[in-house]
Amino acid sequence: MTALHKQLHKQSIENPNAFWAEAAKSLVWDKPFDSVLDDQHAPMYRWFSGGELNTCYNAVDRHIEAGRGEQIALQYVSPVTDTQYGITYNELLAQVSRLAGYMASQGVEKGDRVVIYMPMIPETAYAMLACARLGAIHSVVFGGFAANELATRIDDAKPKMILSASCGIEPSGVVPYKPLLDEALRQAKHQVSSCLILNRPQLDAELQSGRDVDWQSAMAGAPNIACQQVAATDPLYVLYTSGTTGQPKGVVRDNGGHAVALSWSMKHIYNIEAGDVFWAASDVGWVVGHSYIVYGPLLVGATTVLFEGKPVGTPDPGTFWRIIAEHKVKSFFTAPTAIRAIKRDDPDGEYLNGVDLSHLGTVFLAGERCDPDTLHWAEQKLNKPVIDHWWQTETGWPVAANLMGVAPVPVKAGSPALAVPGYNVQVVDEMGKSVAANQTGNVVIKLPLPPGTLTTLWQNEARYKDSYLSMYPGFYLTGDAGYMDEEGYLYIMSRIDDVINVAGHRLSTGRFEEVLCQHEAVAEAAVIGAADKLKGQVPLGLVVLKKGCTLTDEQLYKELIALVREQIGPVAAFRLVSAVPKLPKTRSGKILRGTMRKIADNQTFNMPATIEDPQTLELVRNALTRMGYADAHV
Ligand code: COA
Ligand code: AMP
Repeated sequence: MTALHKQLHKQSIENPNAFWAEAAKSLVWDKPFDSVLDDQHAPMYRWFSGGELNTCYNAVDRHIEAGRGEQIALQYVSPVTDTQYGITYNELLAQVSRLAGYMASQGVEKGDRVVIYMPMIPETAYAMLACARLGAIHSVVFGGFAANELATRIDDAKPKMILSASCGIEPSGVVPYKPLLDEALRQAKHQVSSCLILNRPQLDAELQSGRDVDWQSAMAGAPNIACQQVAATDPLYVLYTSGTTGQPKGVVRDNGGHAVALSWSMKHIYNIEAGDVFWAASDVGWVVGHSYIVYGPLLVGATTVLFEGKPVGTPDPGTFWRIIAEHKVKSFFTAPTAIRAIKRDDPDGEYLNGVDLSHLGTVFLAGERCDPDTLHWAEQKLNKPVIDHWWQTETGWPVAANLMGVAPVPVKAGSPALAVPGYNVQVVDEMGKSVAANQTGNVVIKLPLPPGTLTTLWQNEARYKDSYLSMYPGFYLTGDAGYMDEEGYLYIMSRIDDVINVAGHRLSTGRFEEVLCQHEAVAEAAVIGAADKLKGQVPLGLVVLKKGCTLTDEQLYKELIALVREQIGPVAAFRLVSAVPKLPKTRSGKILRGTMRKIADNQTFNMPATIEDPQTLELVRNALTRMGYADAHV
């Protein structure tokens, strides 16, 4: 039953030029490309060199020309503000071309960066598409990040303009965004001359005269602007993601390869074509939001649902199911953690009673490992195929998946299925040698990566090569460990680096440690991701104190938790920290985070041969037990 999938995969690997040239026909090109795969500067591969197109034209204008102007392009559903409305392709074009016109009047040009720090509202999608229309490079920053994280990204991207809103709405209430933006601009070395601020009805932002402009007033007098012709290899966006250090990585996505790969994935993986309704319940601040709330569905002329709310509590665990029914969603994408939250609040699926899910074809899960219990619960309650698939910010679209549109394969719980066409995925040992079936190793992808994947890191080709290409020359290092069974099904088990995954959000333990060490009482810190029933992982902090700390434990922990929230943001979900006299390290001074994680999760482990002081593990175990982890004895 896997034959058709494997045949497509084989074609894509053996003849990528023919495979992707065929896929590229689904788009409108302003200038045909000279080559499909350009390997002149390998390992810096490029796709569709010489070609020109505009991503916004392909996602908006051309659907109107094809008669879809009155179809809903974007369905906004916001239980947190009790609002919902649809935006047709005609209306979307009007909004986007006017916003682009305003930005152009302020001097934003092809190649300029624009930072977007906004909540889940339609204007955020307009902002991204307006940048694409001008050939400007957007960099969306997730709203749950603190001012400091925003400042770091502003300094790296050096935007000409920033687009933001007065507030986001969380279940806890209105979250003002503008003070965070002001603080970020105070901290950043790079300064912008213009910020466009959308005032939401829930909160009026204070505008700084000379710099901040009210969105509605700006739009009132703005001219419409046509699409710029953009090189396929020009960047469409930069999206920052966590690496192993505190400095985030600016993943660069091009225009041509991105549009081709996403369009291909909509039909082949998600079974979505023009006129269908697709919903990815994520946030535009993450890659899922870029690829599958905004670009993917619009590139193929589908309707996309933009949801401002949570799986539970807005107002109840039936929200997802009611929206799917009301808007006739055909394919639905969410994170396993969202399903776990629903399962926790509605274990028997009572909120599904009387809800008509007849239009729903498939549920897709990604963002973190999907445990078989969660998968089975969703399958049983929804009575629909539930498909785990695996990818990352860097790849921009799925690496391993079940091709539900053209060649579905049987589901194996715990596996995101087979490598997607275009990706030559292998599992290797430390020396780069392929391991046998069912043996765990590092998951790598043989170069070239397919279209739509990262082309480099923003202004940092050296870090790109060092992070991803240097460990195994000729291969891309995914940073994940796992295995492949005899049939080629992949199992992604864990990260090999210090990246953790909290509720589908990717965070760097190195960044947590940097922040903890800013506290005057802290000499040293280690943060690990411990297993959590709801969020997959949660961060646990261990700190070694400087001599003479006069704070009580309670005061100190409160301050440390507040510091992380202030510096990284609420999304860090950092709530547990404990002091230890000493951290477990190797004799060369490397902190043994992997061993600590195993202790926290009650897994068996071998005493590391190079440990400097075995006693430290006992100290850590006591601290982890105090935090509610590590019940078993070392
Ligand atoms: N702007 C401002 N604050 C935000 C935010 C945003 N865009 N997103 C999250 N936050 C805040 C939350 O308000 C919360 O703050 P609090 O500490 O004051 O309560 C904190 O960040 C953590 O939020 P969240 O991750 O949503 O955790 P939660 O405990 O409130 O909810 C879940 C748990 C499982 C319901 C939630 O994590 C969830 O919906 N996860 C799905 C994630 C997802 O779709 N990921 C996509 C990747 S594919
Ligand atoms: P992000 O870049 O934030 O999308 O995070 C990507 C990382 O999340 C991957 O490298 C994996 O570690 C993890 N991940 C995403 N999807 C899956 C999945 N389906 N199964 C296992 N891990 C996943």
